[in-house]
Amino acid sequence: MNKILPLTLSANSIFMYTNPQIQFFQSVTNQFIQSPIAVDSPTNLLTQLKDLLRFHEYRYYVLSDPLISDFEYDQLFKQLQHFETKHPEQITADSPTQRVGNSLNKSFQTVPHLVPMLSLDNSYNAEDLIYFDRKARELSATELINYCIEPKFDGASISLIYENDQLVRAITRGDGVEGEEITNNVKQIRSIPLTARFSEFGISQIEIRGEIIMSKSSFYKYNQWLISQGSSPLANPRNAASGSLRMKDPKEVAQRNLDAFLYHISYFQTIDGKIVEELTTHAGSLQLLWELGFRSPQKEKKVVQGIQQVIDYCLEFETKRDELPYEIDGMVVKVNSLAMQEKLGMTSHHPRWAIAYKFKARQATTQLRSIEFQVGRTGAVTPVAKLDPVYLGGVTVSSISVHNEEYIKEKNLKIGDHVLIERAGDVIPQIVKSLPELGTGDETSILFPKECPVCNSELYKEETEAVWRCINIECEAQVVEKMIHFVSKDAMDIKSFGEANVRKFYELGYLKDIPGIYQLPYELIGSMEGFGKKSLENLQSAIEASKLQPIHRLIYALGIRFVGETTAKTLANAVENIYDFISKDETELLELEDVGVKVAKSIHSFFQNEQNIEMLHHLETLGLQFKNVKKEAAAVDSLGGQSFLFTGTLNKLKRSEAEEMVEKNGGKIMSGVSSKLNYLIVGEDAGSKLEKAKKINSIHIISEDEFLQLIQQNQS
Ligand code: IVH
Repeated sequence: MNKILPLTLSANSIFMYTNPQIQFFQSVTNQFIQSPIAVDSPTNLLTQLKDLLRFHEYRYYVLSDPLISDFEYDQLFKQLQHFETKHPEQITADSPTQRVGNSLNKSFQTVPHLVPMLSLDNSYNAEDLIYFDRKARELSATELINYCIEPKFDGASISLIYENDQLVRAITRGDGVEGEEITNNVKQIRSIPLTARFSEFGISQIEIRGEIIMSKSSFYKYNQWLISQGSSPLANPRNAASGSLRMKDPKEVAQRNLDAFLYHISYFQTIDGKIVEELTTHAGSLQLLWELGFRSPQKEKKVVQGIQQVIDYCLEFETKRDELPYEIDGMVVKVNSLAMQEKLGMTSHHPRWAIAYKFKARQATTQLRSIEFQVGRTGAVTPVAKLDPVYLGGVTVSSISVHNEEYIKEKNLKIGDHVLIERAGDVIPQIVKSLPELGTGDETSILFPKECPVCNSELYKEETEAVWRCINIECEAQVVEKMIHFVSKDAMDIKSFGEANVRKFYELGYLKDIPGIYQLPYELIGSMEGFGKKSLENLQSAIEASKLQPIHRLIYALGIRFVGETTAKTLANAVENIYDFISKDETELLELEDVGVKVAKSIHSFFQNEQNIEMLHHLETLGLQFKNVKKEAAAVDSLGGQSFLFTGTLNKLKRSEAEEMVEKNGGKIMSGVSSKLNYLIVGEDAGSKLEKAKKINSIHIISEDEFLQLIQQNQS
């Protein structure tokens, strides 16, 4: 199978690369990055560029082992896009640019599967597996069966059809006989190749089954985003994956970072009825898929002899479950020989040659006893369900956030309900659903308060939001939560302060607002129980040190709504001094990267609020850093924020070294030629960037030597 291929770029037809091939790809990549192809490049350059992009997508999405940076990948991608815009007649359906969906899905057509999509029979323990094996041995009249075992991926099942090497259709499971065609959305998943060289194996049509998944980290990020938008988070990555697949807009699907594992070839047709040697065992089909660039469970699978080894591997894998970056809910045990699979056949529901071994559930049922309403630092009132404690996936769960009023309505939750709860991996537990069938009829509705449970002021809700808020900025709960946020690790990072001390000092009247953090009565704190000399000194020095934190931390620490860490950094880079925000209107703020209308409004209103400005003055007098020191330093470093772009091959410096020099000296690197560019540094064989720059008078076009002189002058 491991064919040695000629050293040509089209060698990517088989994804088992040899070292020299990888080196070759890398050197061609560097050439492409350093000297972008001219617009009138010949077609073979275009083919090479597409092959390169596919190769790097494979390294990144299938092997999780990229050879170039995201930035470099983007450069290659942009070159291809640029070329295709000039030559739309040369765009092919399998071009990496064609993943990006342009039109909305109107409705999803129902289409038949080539072979029905059956589900699997389940087993829960060794006895079930032994029984399954006994039956299979009897039916196949075999003493010892070889099995292939692989993870049972917890996502949404999918069927892919490739014809003449091209992905032509992707279909959901549906009722097993027919499903919905979601090809455009599936094309957004980068681990699914748009094209694969099945024809090299004589295969003209093939149907492949697999699972679309969302990794634990993407799921976590997605839920955080949902919460920040005032929406309810989802219970598990499975729901997130299946929901994402049915999105109207393929571009949104692309943002969800879905992934796929392909684990079964359900049908194939060969040219002239040829036999495919590789397809005699299940393990062989996983290997073939892997070699053709699919993410199959090639590394996770194991071929064993007899059921005892199956049991051992299932138990061993269960212990590794939490270490995996994606969710699995069990293992799938498959008879390895495809001929034996055929002999064993199916029942009307499931194959007799495979069985799922389900891991112990991370679900549990318990009872909802009450709802506590908590007020956060932005005044948002969050209902938290108090439950009868229940053991679930390694922890005891006794309270779960139920997010907002709509979520409670959607799930039809009542006090006294039996509820099914789930903890997916290391993800926070969620209520999956209530179980009204277990109810007594004495369950009572949950009433959402009209007044703040802490300060009693009236609650408000914006039409576009799901969240009720207390807008009294003096509300005790908000004041305390704001201080907790201010001292936290990602904000001012005041070590040894923490939530507990904020609450304690507040209760004792030693701390009442954010400036108070810098005016603590240390003599009183020193006499408190548990506060030795050392811990007091530590606290004091951590507070002092925080005064010098860079302003992006202070901006984040202020707790302005919708301003997370990334936005805080963007904001910090845009000013010399925090006070500069007072004079910025919403339009100016909107010009900043990633700042949308909602964020701009929020920042603007924060800096127009007198109480906030008073607090800032107070913090300044207490000695906090308000100036953007990085900007000041950069200005001294004298490239003074000017922008630079390199084109062509440099002789003395590597591209990366040159770019680093710019940044170290306070300059910026641009990604393309525009009127915002100050310097274009031209190396050998410069192409279209030079031509474009010549048309813009304000750009200084200089050589590599001139660039080095410029740096030297500025350093002397
Ligand atoms: S094989 C005819 N292998 O589990 C056999 N299924 O309850 C086809 N699943 O609908 C299925 N990981 O969505 C197979 N490694 C794996 C799997 C797997 C997850 C899902 C699949 C199927 C369900 C069966």
